[in-house]
Amino acid sequence: MTTMTIRARALTKDYPRSHRSGAVLTAVAPTDLELAPGSLTVVTGRSGSGKSTLLMMLAGLLTPTAGTVEVEGRDLYALAEGERSRLRNGSIGLVPQGHAALRSLTVLDNVLLPAVIRGDAQPPVARAASLLEDVGLAELAGEYPQELSGGELRRLALARALLLGPAALLADEPTAGLDSENVEVVLAFLRQAADEGAAVLVVTHEAEARTVADRVLTMDGGRLS
Ligand SMILES: Nc1ncnc2c1ncn2[C@@H]1O[C@H](COP(=O)(O)OP(=O)(O)OP(=O)(O)O)[C@@H](O)[C@H]1O
Ligand SMILES: [Mg+2]
Repeated sequence: MTTMTIRARALTKDYPRSHRSGAVLTAVAPTDLELAPGSLTVVTGRSGSGKSTLLMMLAGLLTPTAGTVEVEGRDLYALAEGERSRLRNGSIGLVPQGHAALRSLTVLDNVLLPAVIRGDAQPPVARAASLLEDVGLAELAGEYPQELSGGELRRLALARALLLGPAALLADEPTAGLDSENVEVVLAFLRQAADEGAAVLVVTHEAEARTVADRVLTMDGGRLS
C-alpha cells in the first residue's frame, strides 16, 4: 500500500440558513487537521457539531466554503472533477453515515463497487469474499441490501471501504447499531488498517473506540479540539 497524508488547512463549511436571508450556519469553523499514515484519529462530539461535514470534506465529496484539503500533496478541490473522483475512489476508503448500499446489487457486488468504478477488467472477487468473511457476512454475499439489518449494512460498508486497500480510511459512525462483539470486530479492523499504514479517521460515539485510537479529538459547534 502506498501511504498518504491528508492535510486540511483552515477547512471551513458554511451553510445558508434558508429562513433568514443572508444568515449562515458555520458547520465547520476554520480547521487545521493532519491525518498521517499509520495513525488512527477518533472524532467525537454532540449531534450536529459538524463531524460528518468535516469528514465529507476530507473525503472529497463536499466542497468547502474556504480552506484546502491536500492529498498526496495535491489540493483536492483544485482538481478537475474526474481526477478528484479517481483519487478518491482509489485512495480514500469511505464508510458514510447511514446506509449507502445499492439496492440493485448483491452484497458481494456492493463490496466490489470501488473496483468496478475503477474500471478493473477482473474485479477482485476473492478479496471481496474474504473481506465479507472477515466482517461476518460470508453467508449473505448473494443477498440484496434490503434483506440486511442495519448493523449488517454497516459491516458491508466497511468491507467495501477496505476493498482497494485504501491509503486513507474515513469512517462515519461505523459501529452504529452493532452489538458489542461486532463493535470490537469493526474497531479491530480500523486499527489493523492503521497498523498497515493507512491514515484513519473515525467519527464515533463509541467509548470503546478510545482503546484503539492514537488520539481523540472533540468537535463542538464546528470547532475541533
Ligand atoms: N446540507 C446541509 N444544509 C444545511 N445545513 C446542513 C447541511 N448538512 C448539515 N447541516 C447542518 O450542519 C450542522 C452539522 O451537521 P453534521 O451532519 O456535520 O453534524 P454531525 O456532528 O455529523 O451530527 P450527527 O452526530 O447527528 O451525525 C448541523 O447543524 C446540520 O443541521
Ligand atoms: Mg454525522
